[in-house]
This record gives sequence, structure tokens and C-alpha cells, in this order.
Amino acid sequence: MKVLVTGGAGFIGSHTVDLLLSKGYEVKVLDLLQSRVHPYGKPKYVIPDIEFIQGDVCDKEAMIKAMSDVEGIFHLAAYQDYMKDFSNFIKTNAYSTALIFEIIVEKKLNIKKIVLASSQSVYGDGKYTCKDHGIQYPDSRNIEQLDRADWEMHCPKDGCKEYLVPALIDEAVTNPFTAYGISKETLEKLAIKLGSRYSIPTVSMRYSIVQGPRNSFFNAYSGVCRIFTLRLINDKPPVIYEDGKQLRDYVHVYDVAAANVTAFENSSCDYSALNVGGIKGTNLIDYTNTLIKVTGKNIEPIIAGYYRYGDTRHTVSVSEKLKKLGWKNQYTLEDIFKDYLKWVYEQPDIKDRYEEVEQIMKKQSVLRESKLVNKL
Ligand SMILES: NC(=O)c1ccc[n+]([C@@H]2O[C@H](COP(=O)([O-])OP(=O)(O)OC[C@H]3O[C@@H](n4cnc5c(N)ncnc54)[C@H](O)[C@@H]3O)[C@@H](O)[C@H]2O)c1
Repeated sequence: MKVLVTGGAGFIGSHTVDLLLSKGYEVKVLDLLQSRVHPYGKPKYVIPDIEFIQGDVCDKEAMIKAMSDVEGIFHLAAYQDYMKDFSNFIKTNAYSTALIFEIIVEKKLNIKKIVLASSQSVYGDGKYTCKDHGIQYPDSRNIEQLDRADWEMHCPKDGCKEYLVPALIDEAVTNPFTAYGISKETLEKLAIKLGSRYSIPTVSMRYSIVQGPRNSFFNAYSGVCRIFTLRLINDKPPVIYEDGKQLRDYVHVYDVAAANVTAFENSSCDYSALNVGGIKGTNLIDYTNTLIKVTGKNIEPIIAGYYRYGDTRHTVSVSEKLKKLGWKNQYTLEDIFKDYLKWVYEQPDIKDRYEEVEQIMKKQSVLRESKLVNKL
């Protein structure tokens, strides 16, 4: 079968392409080679003899050309990160999804399945329990709370204010609060509603934090693995935000590529959204200490009470629905670090850019100081 991978020159896209090729698919890529991700042009890991269209997923002519002779689509290209140009998230991520359906319907294309990249960001601040009020999906913490270094979530029920206990996130409730998260929720709705209306099977993949080789150095605002690794190999301490107790789940990019292909090949997940998470929740201090151990450096991280406005407190997904399709995590956190480090050392430019990025985030009031900083 011939399939199209949008964003196939990117991190997740390129590993998905490699896996598809190894399984005998014929693969075609459409990628803009966005300069923020690929400042030096087409990456060397893009296999030279596959059909490659340099184009924008929002360009109808380019997409018609890309889609006309395929039977499956992996729609992974997206606008991402912490930027404040909100309209671009909606424009690229939601518009392009609607465009794909528009083209299929208009040109009567025989597309058998579409796999779409969604994100854990559709859950906003995630799921918690209150000892008095049960399951809660609270809104994000405000600046006043964060300025007090009061990091944990409080129960949103009137007058309660109890501290909440983090719960594992299943697929049931979405509550995004960023333009990126809203763009992904919209993409999912388009995929489910237009997909079922026109009998085009779809599945949206809600990736947790994906890590591993080929993660671009240049998406510099996010990506704790990249940022901390570059700090450490340049003999500088990683800077942990808040108190380091925030929980996240991390998934190896090889597991994500396998999840994409599993979902593509399995019709029982059609018209749904699936979590693609890590093995378990890990707090940032344990995460950093494991990374330090793998790098072999003797460096202590800094916890100085800085916070990034808009970060979630605890988000850990469970992937039970995906596991029912036969998928499971094959790679641990140590595997992620080892594979990433090996790749980093093969790269020509492993400069630490943290200070530069820190200044930009401070200027944009994304990175802020809590009262804890003032006390130190
Ligand atoms: N990496 C993660 O942790 C993570 C987590 C959740 C969701 N996702 C989603 O997974 C997908 C892949 O992410 P990634 O980490 O591989 O990112 P990436 O930046 O490495 O890859 C994205 C690719 O899309 C291309 N692209 C961007 N805008 C485009 C456009 N308008 N037209 C065509 N191509 C365009 C870029 O050039 C890049 O090659 C995205 O949809 C992203 O939102 C990623």
C-alpha cells in the first residue's frame, strides 16, 4: 500500500516513515522543512530515494498532488511550541485537517485510513481527585498562585481549596487551555465527525512527551530531554522549574512510530482517539537524576523556584485502549536517554542554547520568578 506521511522529515514522522518502509509500505512524504525545525534544510536521515514533496499542508494544490495516488495518510505535520502567535496553531493544525477531508471528498479519493497526530495537551491540566469531591478536571493555575510558589493544584469546587491528588489520564475528558491544545482537539473532532460522515476511517494519537533520536535541537522552547542533555554535556547544571515534583510520562519515539502503524492497521480503533503514553509517571527530579547518571556527569541540578507560565502540574496518561490493540512500551526512560545521547554525540553542533532561550522566555513573561526566588 502507498501512504503519505505529512511532516515526514520531522522527529516522529521520520521514524514512522522508517517503520512503514521496513514493513513493506511504499511511502511518500510532504514536509515544508520549516526553518525553525530544520535550519539547515532537509535532514540527512530522510531516505533519499523516497518521493519527497517540499510543501505546506495548508496548500491545496500541494496536498492534492501529495494525496492523489495514496491509500493511507499519516498527518503528523504541525505548528508547535510555546509561541504566542495563536492563530498559526489553528491555521496549520486544524485547517490542514479540514483540507485533507475537503480534498478526499472533492476528488473522490480512495483513502482507507488516516492517522492523525494529536497530543496529551488536549487534556489541559489533566485529571485529579479531591478527597471530598472525587474526580476533578481543574483549570490551570493562575499567576498569583504560582508567584506564591504554591505549586500543587487546588480543588476547584466552591469553597473547597483542598490539595488535589494526581490521577492517571484516560481518554474520557478533554479540557485544553492552549491554542496548540485547542487546535489538536479541533483536529480530532474534524477527524471523527467528517471521517464518520464520509466513511473515511480515522484515529487520532494523543502522544505524551515523545523523546529519542532526531528530536530537533531548534524547537528550543520545549523538550526537557534536549535542553537538559545539552546543558549536561556542556558541563552546566539543568535548571528545574517549580519544585521538580511535577509528574510527566515520557515515551520513546520508536514506541510512538509503532503505535502509529498499529493504529493504522487496526480497524477496531477507527473514529477514536488513543493515548500514546510512557511506562509510568516520573517526577522531574528523578528524571533529571536518571539523565545525569546516564551522561556520567557529576553535576547537581538547580531548583530555584522559577516557573514557566502555562506548564501543567501533573500529566500522566494511561494507554490501555492502545494496549488492547497489541501495542506496548518497549523502551524505558534509560533507553530513551541512551539512544538520545548516542545521537546527540553524532551531531555537529551541540552547543547549549539554554541561556539564550531563557532570556527570550523571560522577555515574553513565559518564564517567571516565584517568591521562592526572592527568598533565595
Ligand atoms: N514531540 C512530541 O513530544 C509531541 C507530543 C505530542 C504531539 N506531537 C505531535 O506530533 C507531530 C510530530 O511532531 P514532531 O515532534 O515530530 O515535530 P517536528 O517538528 O520534529 O516535525 C514536524 C514536521 O512537520 C513539518 N511541518 C511543520 N509545519 C508544516 C507545514 N505547514 N506543512 C508541512 N510540513 C510542516 C516540519 O518541517 C517538521 O519536519 C506533530 O503533529 C506534533 O504536534 C509531538
